[in-house]
Amino acid sequence: MIEIRDLRRVFGGVVALDGVTLSLGEGERRAVIGPNGAGKTTLINALAGETTPTGGTIRLGGQDITRLRPWQRARLGLAHVFQRTELFAPLSARDNVALAVAARRGPYRLFRAVPRAEYAEAAAVLERVGLAGREGVAARALSHGERRQLELAVALAQRPHVLLLDEPTAGMSPLETARITELIAGLDRALTILIVEHDMDVVFRLADRVTVLHEGRVIADGTAADVRGDVRVHDVYLGKAVTVA
Ligand SMILES: Nc1ncnc2c1ncn2[C@@H]1O[C@H](COP(=O)(O)OP(=O)(O)OP(=O)(O)O)[C@@H](O)[C@H]1O
Ligand SMILES: [Mg+2]
Repeated sequence: MIEIRDLRRVFGGVVALDGVTLSLGEGERRAVIGPNGAGKTTLINALAGETTPTGGTIRLGGQDITRLRPWQRARLGLAHVFQRTELFAPLSARDNVALAVAARRGPYRLFRAVPRAEYAEAAAVLERVGLAGREGVAARALSHGERRQLELAVALAQRPHVLLLDEPTAGMSPLETARITELIAGLDRALTILIVEHDMDVVFRLADRVTVLHEGRVIADGTAADVRGDVRVHDVYLGKAVTVA
């Protein structure tokens, strides 16, 4: 589904991605972990088209998408939840999702009033992410955790084939984290998911495989059990973050 080959991204003198090669099968759930500054967000942004790689290629379902704009990738079924909030702050939760539904159905619809069908679909998606009863609240008036739920709703409203999640649980309470983790776990198994996450409980609950980035390079890649047992991973990351059973 996704094939990343020798991906590089340099910002001035900083090598954020230093030759990352990675592939994800259809329906795979992959976590990318690594310390702050490892290049995780740069990798996700390169996949979504938010940043242009300095070198290397990205393929989606066999098609080279390395140079496509973000909206062209969205059309091909890629949805992205950013590390920082990207919502229409003054609009209600319902309007935020209805716009995503409308955009999926055809961009021209954005210039018309959003029809009833889009609102019905938005309500269903909002209920699915646990925001039933909050539809009319402006995005900026929602709690941090609710805004993350809303971002997931906006992504799901695009009916993606691939979902890119950059720290969806960051800043959430333990209860909100547990809720959103179970929600992601329950998504359609056909959906390919790439999740960047610091919370190891979330990683081991959701991921089939784990890739460890360090200074822009993949230093380990394997099943959750493989990665737990990898000495280099402990040195750079896991040992500091969690007690491994
Ligand atoms: N737009 C940018 N301009 C300059 N440097 C950048 C830019 N974006 C990222 N970097 C640098 O690239 C490196 C990788 O950053 P990135 O945000 O991908 O890390 P990350 O693994 O997502 O970290 P975190 O866990 O803190 O979110 C860092 O050294 C960062 O300072
Ligand atoms: Mg990041």
